[in-house]
Amino acid sequence: MNFENIQNAANHLKNQYTGQPRIGLILGSGLGVLADEIQNAVKIPYKEIPDFPVSTVAGHAGQLVFGQLSGQEVVAMQGRFHYYEGYGFDKVTFPVRVMKELGVEVLIVTNAAGGVNEKFEAGDLMLISDHINNMGGNPLIGANDSRLGPRFPDMSQAYDKELRQKARDIAAELSLKIQEGVYVGNTGPVYETPAEVRLARTLGGDAVGMSTVPEVIVARHAGIRVLGISCISNMAAGILDQPLSHDEVIETTEMVRANFLSYVKEIVKSI
Ligand code: HPA
Repeated sequence: MNFENIQNAANHLKNQYTGQPRIGLILGSGLGVLADEIQNAVKIPYKEIPDFPVSTVAGHAGQLVFGQLSGQEVVAMQGRFHYYEGYGFDKVTFPVRVMKELGVEVLIVTNAAGGVNEKFEAGDLMLISDHINNMGGNPLIGANDSRLGPRFPDMSQAYDKELRQKARDIAAELSLKIQEGVYVGNTGPVYETPAEVRLARTLGGDAVGMSTVPEVIVARHAGIRVLGISCISNMAAGILDQPLSHDEVIETTEMVRANFLSYVKEIVKSI
């Protein structure tokens, strides 16, 4: 993926949608319904966008949705790409590059994640304060195109402090219980072993998941401000005496859907 691929995809989209999205949304497992709330929606399937990968996971729709949410111009990814699907990090993060080219300044990334912090409960929402890249690679490896960002991007505030404060304030206004913590990105597709969950906790992790880290790295490279929200869909392996399943992940995210929707809509309104 190079600059020309990015421009090509962005131009294709600009021809189909003339609005100017300022806010990008990446909607994780079970959270794609938020895109159904977008007004005057223009939906563009990934398969129609030049160089876009196509998602293979059940529960991920696979389209960009343009329009207005809470009065703001947005573009949402309904379904994201995961490294475990076999896409390289460049493919996984390509949509973020395209969003930047479309004029996106703020990215709201959401995901389903396993709770590592034992004070968490399934169904909690967690603001991501920071992340640990445990995916064994980095989307910025390779020649750096300075048109896209700097060679050595700062990650000291990957998850924007002001946006997080705003998100905390809004949670308080809505009387919504909100956790905050460090997201550890693993490759998947296996869920962690209990020993790996203990490792994540020892390293300072509060939640584990299989996404988000590559997209956030690229967003920061591109100078996009990021807000991350995890839906704690299950307690990570070994905490409760039960096996994990994707069905459980989807079930829990559906359970907290209403809270999640109203929360993100209020946040979008305030940006
Ligand atoms: N581990 C990794 N990814 C996840 C989990 C988990 O427990 N739950 C949802 N996504």
